[in-house]
Amino acid sequence: MESAKDYHTAQALLEWQIELGATDAIGDVPVDRYALPDTAPKAKIPAHRQAAPEKPAQVDPVAVAKSAAKGAGSLDQLRAVMDAFEHCELKRGARQLVFADGTPGARVMIVGEAPGRDEDREGKPFVGRAGQLLDRMLAAIDLDRTQNVYITNVLPWRPPQNRDPKPEEIGMMKPFLERHVTLAKPDVLVVMGNISCQAVLGKRGITRLRGQWDQAMDLPVIPMFHPAYLLRQPQMKRQAWADLLDLKAHLKGNR
Ligand code: URA
Repeated sequence: MESAKDYHTAQALLEWQIELGATDAIGDVPVDRYALPDTAPKAKIPAHRQAAPEKPAQVDPVAVAKSAAKGAGSLDQLRAVMDAFEHCELKRGARQLVFADGTPGARVMIVGEAPGRDEDREGKPFVGRAGQLLDRMLAAIDLDRTQNVYITNVLPWRPPQNRDPKPEEIGMMKPFLERHVTLAKPDVLVVMGNISCQAVLGKRGITRLRGQWDQAMDLPVIPMFHPAYLLRQPQMKRQAWADLLDLKAHLKGNR
C-alpha cells in the first residue's frame, strides 16, 4: 500500500467483503508472504493526540564546570576535564587549551588573564612579550617558573582578537580556577590585571588595588599590574617593583 488513504480504503473494502460472507483472501496471482516486508502500515495519529516533541534539556554551564572540577583529583585530571569542557565559546576559536606552566606545588601561584596569540600557539601561559617581562620581574626577586613559581590564567582559551573575556565566561571557568588553586597548593596568589582581580577577588580597579594584600580562596592575594600593561606604560614599573619587593618580604615572613 502506498499511502494511508489506500490502506483505509482497502480496509473498508475488506470489511465489506467479510460482511458479504468472504472467508479466504484468494488472488489471481500467488503471494509469497515470507518475501513481504514485515512492517505494518502505521495509522495516522491526529496532531492533537501526538506527544509534544522533547525540548533539549537546558544545561547550566556553571553547574557542569563545578561538578567536573570537583571530580578532578590531580592537576593532570583537571587539565583533562577542562579540555573536555564544551560550554565555553572561547574554545571554538582557540587552537588549544592553555593550562599552566612552571612548578606545581610552588609557594607562588600567578593568575593571569587569558592566553594571547603566542600562548595559544605554544599551549603555555605567558610565553610572549608580556611573559618575557614577567620572567624578568620574577628573576628580580629570585623567582623562576622552572623552580619556584606556578602560572595559570583565568581563561584557558584565547579570546578572539584578544578581546576581554565576558563576565559569563569568567563565571563558568571560575570553578576550574578554584580547583586549580586547591590542587596546586600555593602559599600566595599573585593576580595580574583587572580580569584576574575580578575573577579572584570580585573587584576591579587595579590602579587602586595593586599592592594591597587581600584574601581569597583561603589564601593571601596580592594584585599587581599586568606585565602587558607595563609594556605599554613603563613608568608604572616603579609601583610594580614596590609590589614585587612586598611579595618577596611576604615570602620571607617579614610582613
Ligand atoms: N597575558 C595573560 O594574562 N596571560 C598569558 O598567558 C599571556 C598574556
